[in-house]
Amino acid sequence: MTLQKQKQMHQNKQKNTNRHQPVLLEEVLTYLAPQKGNSYLDVTAGYAGHASQVLARTQSPEKTVLVDRDAEAIEYLKAKCDNAVQLLHTDFLTAAKQLNEEGKRFDCILADLGVSSPHLDKASRGFSVQVDEPLDMRMDQRQTLTAADILNSYGEAELIKLLRDYGEEPKAVRIAKRIIERRPITSTKQLAAIATSVWGRGKKHPATRTFQALRIAVNDEVGLLKTALPIWLDMLQPGGRLAIISFHSLEDRIVKQAFAERSGKRYDAQLKLLTKKPVTARQEELVFNPRARSAKLRAAAKINTKKLEDQ
Ligand SMILES: C[S@@+](CC[C@H](N)C(=O)[O-])C[C@H]1O[C@@H](n2cnc3c(N)ncnc32)[C@H](O)[C@@H]1O
Repeated sequence: MTLQKQKQMHQNKQKNTNRHQPVLLEEVLTYLAPQKGNSYLDVTAGYAGHASQVLARTQSPEKTVLVDRDAEAIEYLKAKCDNAVQLLHTDFLTAAKQLNEEGKRFDCILADLGVSSPHLDKASRGFSVQVDEPLDMRMDQRQTLTAADILNSYGEAELIKLLRDYGEEPKAVRIAKRIIERRPITSTKQLAAIATSVWGRGKKHPATRTFQALRIAVNDEVGLLKTALPIWLDMLQPGGRLAIISFHSLEDRIVKQAFAERSGKRYDAQLKLLTKKPVTARQEELVFNPRARSAKLRAAAKINTKKLEDQ
């Protein structure tokens, strides 16, 4: 069978059986190394692609907490998971604060950042450059701020910064100016047309970076990660492991820096790095799951200081 045919069959199967294809699944299982009886916190549980495999290994639903800020993901998890699993429908910073205050500790913590395939594929959420719909982009529908609010209220300098920082958009100035000229911007089609008018048509949709930038801003993705990450590290059991998959260089930098500050030869190191460089998807995975293209996995283990003292 040709590779093309295999790919097509895989995509059809995906459509029928699964809502989201987990990225770097084998690698996550290697670095998290879940063992029978382990406790597990998944702060971006989505459609349980990773969580179901981790749970199959820990076999301890009563020590598992799954978090997602998206109502549809939570509904899916409710239907799919053992009743003993604790589900939290909130953002991962609020969840981390709550669990930490309750004194919860975990052997395995996983964060698989960003959006899920249903966000991009399902109509009406406003995440996709491919379909025309209202400019929403909220992962949590209870939030009030939408992408349209940002586009229609930010000043030029703020828009340029957003496009540069979160979209790494080389033509940020021209796109920001055109957004302001064409206000009010209410639909994804209108926004996509602005980026196309600046860039012309290309292989990749010219509005991809603009959409990414807005999505990150609407959901405060970078801000939440920065504040939540130290709490996740605090919540690791001695010897426990944290794995983070990011899709944006800014996020990867935050993870790299947080891990570096707490590891190495320093006398007060709390972490042992499990990945010196970020782990990326193998070619075989990219064939079946193009979303894995920009995924970067970093993992670290909490140093068991008790063990060191005993030596
Ligand atoms: C890449 S998907 C995770 C997919 C999941 N690992 C799986 O295999 O099914 C990211 C998920 O995290 C959720 N999410 C993103 N940012 C979040 C945040 N700050 N707090 C809680 N959930 C978040 C999204 O709603 C989405 O369902």
